[in-house]
Amino acid sequence: MGKSSPDLFRRRALWIALTIMIVFTLSYLSHQRHEGLPSVTLPAVKPAQETEMVKPVEAEEDMAQTEQMEQLEMMEPEPTWEFVVGRDDLNYGLTDEQCDIAFPLLYEELDRAREHLVNLNRTIKEKDIHVDRKGTYDGRTHGEFQVMIHDGELYVIKEVHGEPDRSRGLAALANMYRAISSMGDARRLIPNIEFTFDIEDIAMEGEHNKERIRWTWARPKDNRWLWPMPDFDGWSYPDDGVASYVQFREDVAELETTFPRGWYDKPTQLSWRGSFAQNGDLRRALVKAATGKSWSDVKPIDWHDRKDLMAMQDFCKFQFVAHTEGNSWSGRLRYLHVCDSVPIIHKLSYSAHYYPLLVASGPNQNYVEVNRNFSDLVPKMEELLADPERARVIAAESTRVFRDRYLTPAAEACYWRRMFRTWRSVMDFEPKTHYFHKDGTKKRRGVSWERFSFRQEKSFEHGFFVEDKIKDEEPE
Ligand SMILES: *[C@@H]1O[C@H](CO)[C@@H](O)[C@H](O)[C@H]1NC(C)=O
Ligand SMILES: *[C@@H]1O[C@H](CO)[C@@H](O)[C@H](O)[C@H]1NC(C)=O
Repeated sequence: MGKSSPDLFRRRALWIALTIMIVFTLSYLSHQRHEGLPSVTLPAVKPAQETEMVKPVEAEEDMAQTEQMEQLEMMEPEPTWEFVVGRDDLNYGLTDEQCDIAFPLLYEELDRAREHLVNLNRTIKEKDIHVDRKGTYDGRTHGEFQVMIHDGELYVIKEVHGEPDRSRGLAALANMYRAISSMGDARRLIPNIEFTFDIEDIAMEGEHNKERIRWTWARPKDNRWLWPMPDFDGWSYPDDGVASYVQFREDVAELETTFPRGWYDKPTQLSWRGSFAQNGDLRRALVKAATGKSWSDVKPIDWHDRKDLMAMQDFCKFQFVAHTEGNSWSGRLRYLHVCDSVPIIHKLSYSAHYYPLLVASGPNQNYVEVNRNFSDLVPKMEELLADPERARVIAAESTRVFRDRYLTPAAEACYWRRMFRTWRSVMDFEPKTHYFHKDGTKKRRGVSWERFSFRQEKSFEHGFFVEDKIKDEEPE
């Protein structure tokens, strides 16, 4: 059967539409390639055979333009959602699909932790989930929380009071609660899980069991049993001068507007303040290496006299910011990462949840790495000062990757939810909502977060002090 002319016309329109789409896609792709970290928001690529089929088309269908446009609209794939900073960075409720599109490289620590167990053919059993028992470690008691999520509700099963202040635990729980309750249908979308987290800087200190599984702020790079969760600084810095993470980001954004030419307008100096009380040898090495240099605004501080203190946001006023580890990781880095400045970081011993994204060389370099004894600080600073354009590009890459993407509050909520799901994928038990007594009666396990965050040890209720009776005791 011969083709009727409307058929022929439709086929030609189809070719034109395809050609336009492919040219558009290719030019978009080649543009994207110059923009750093690959495969973040690439649009769907057309299958190869369609490209081969494209043929030149004569421009004889001008009058049919309207119809072509209609066809184009019909054929366009679903518009690809893209993460837009300024619009989405405070969106705690991105869907799983949006989280994957926006933050494809965020989950490396979780995949690593999971893989470690899978490689050992190991799962998380009910008996793995408990706070430390007496005698299992030396030294001071760590603060710990045993937590359950059930039907999208957050419960604290047990809290152990220990080092350091419990407010860190409350901040983590508040962060989790926000990541859960931002889901419209948390009961369906958040898996039922149970886990334990340790709030100490060095979560495994004093512990005899090398295979102790905990959620922690950071892990030594050679400990594969710990699961890094976003640190409490993502809720708030524990110092009044800094306030909440979100507020700090706003304050820095405002500060940055005072530099009309951005990075170029900042002093060509390296800023750092810190106490020698933690990690003293390492920090003294930094101060020693920088002393007397025209590019140095590096000074130690003593919390007793508080001389030479610098407000956290004021580090951002410099082209270069130095970071040092504290007792273990230091939560200060995520704050320095909000600055449009070049981070100078010594080789790290600890990994926090987003550290796999640090890139020390190549076109996507986003910080400058120096030795732990800072022996190469001077030559590396001199190199940067001699090539300001290279330094500026590193600062720009840092803000693009960290401030404007992977360290946004939206990214952190995605990480929490992925953490719940990844943990669930290696759990082989169902969390129990109740204890069952021998006589057939039952008692709820734990305390809902709403009540827990509201409670005090003693409270002035009904006109007199009452002891809180909501402590959880497992029946013998
Ligand atoms: C993994 O563990 C399961 C249950 O403990 C066992 O049945 C299975 O044989 C193990 N597989 C391997 C490859 O060791
Ligand atoms: C500093 O550290 C580097 C790298 O670890 C090492 O090669 C060098 O010998 C150290 N220098 C001093 C003075 O200790």
